[in-house]
Amino acid sequence: MIKVKDISKHFGKVKAVDTISFEVQEQENLILLGTSGCGKTTTLKMINRLIEPTSGSIFINGKNIADEQPETLRRGIGYVLQNNGLFPHYTVAENIAVVPQLLKWDKKKIADRTAELMEKLHLSSDYLHAYPNELSGGQQQRIGLARALVSDPPVLLMDEPFGALDNVTRASIHKEFKALDELKRKTIIMVTHDVQEAFELGDRICLMDKGKIIQSGTPTDLLFSPPNNFVKDFLKDQRLQLEFKAIRLLDIWDLLPDLHKTDQSPTISANTNLWTGLEQFKFTDSETISISKDQNEIKIIGFEQLMSAFNQYKNKQGHE
Ligand SMILES: Nc1ncnc2c1ncn2[C@@H]1O[C@H](COP(=O)(O)OP(=O)(O)O)[C@@H](O)[C@H]1O
Ligand SMILES: [Mg+2]
Repeated sequence: MIKVKDISKHFGKVKAVDTISFEVQEQENLILLGTSGCGKTTTLKMINRLIEPTSGSIFINGKNIADEQPETLRRGIGYVLQNNGLFPHYTVAENIAVVPQLLKWDKKKIADRTAELMEKLHLSSDYLHAYPNELSGGQQQRIGLARALVSDPPVLLMDEPFGALDNVTRASIHKEFKALDELKRKTIIMVTHDVQEAFELGDRICLMDKGKIIQSGTPTDLLFSPPNNFVKDFLKDQRLQLEFKAIRLLDIWDLLPDLHKTDQSPTISANTNLWTGLEQFKFTDSETISISKDQNEIKIIGFEQLMSAFNQYKNKQGHE
C-alpha cells in the first residue's frame, strides 16, 4: 500500500535520510526503530509531504504522492506528532474537531464521532471542555490519537506516540492500542527508539542508523538473522525478553509434546507469544496450560515442556 523508493533528504551537508527503501502492506504495522537523530522523523514527514525529499519517490496505492496536492494527500493520512502536538489554547473537543472542520462536517456529525472516539479510548466526556495541560500525559496521548483517527483515514503515521509516558502508563496504552478495532484496519508507520515497544507493536521493523536502514524484517528476522553486529548489539541488552515477545507459540508448535492430561488448565491461542504463555503459569495455580491452534487442535503442556521447546527452537535457528 505504501512504497518508499530510494528516498534521501539532505539538510546542507547532513544526510538525514540516505537512500532508503521499504514497503508497507495494507493493515500492517511497520516500525521505524533507531536512536535519536538517525532520520526517523524526517522519513515519516516525507510520507505526508511535511518535508520534500532531496531525491527518490513515494507511492501510496500506486500513486506517486509528488503528483498530489499536499492537502488532499494529508486527508487520507492521520498524523500523531512527537509530544502529542495538541494546541494548548484549544479544548479537547476543539483539538479533535480541527480536521472535521476543514472537511466541513456539520456540528452533530463532529459531536457524534468525537463521543464515539472518547468512549473507545476510555476517556470520560467530562474532559471535552478541558485544556490539554489539565490532563495527564497518557490522556493527552489518547487525545492526540483521537485527533488523528477522527476522519478514519486509512493510513496512520505516529511519531514516538508513547515516548513521553512512564513505563506503567505505556504498558497499559500498548494493551489498548493492540485491542482497538479501529487501528487493526489501518496501515500504520510508527516511529520509536524503544526496542521493547517495537517488538510489542510491530509486524515488521526497519532498524535505522545514520540515515540508512540496517535491516528490515519481522522481529524474529532481527533476532535470528541479523546481517551484521550492529543489529546484534542493538538487541543485546534485552535479548531474552525480546525473544519471548517475538516467538509465537505457533512457531514452536511442532516442538511441543502433548501431555494428554484432562484438567482445567487455562486455554490460550497458539497465535499469542511465548511471553503470554509464560504469564499464564504466573497467574494461575495450574501446572499446565492448554494451547489451541486453529480452534481445533489442542496441546496441554507444562512449564518445562514450554522452555524445552523454546531452547530447541533457538538451537535450530542458530544452525540455519
Ligand atoms: N530542519 C532541519 N535542518 C537541519 N538538520 C535537520 C533538520 N531536521 C533534522 N535534521 C537533522 O537530521 C538528522 C535526522 O533527524 P530526525 O529525522 O529528526 O531524527 P530522529 O527522528 O530519528 O531523531 C539529525 O542529525 C538532525 O539534526
Ligand atoms: Mg524524531
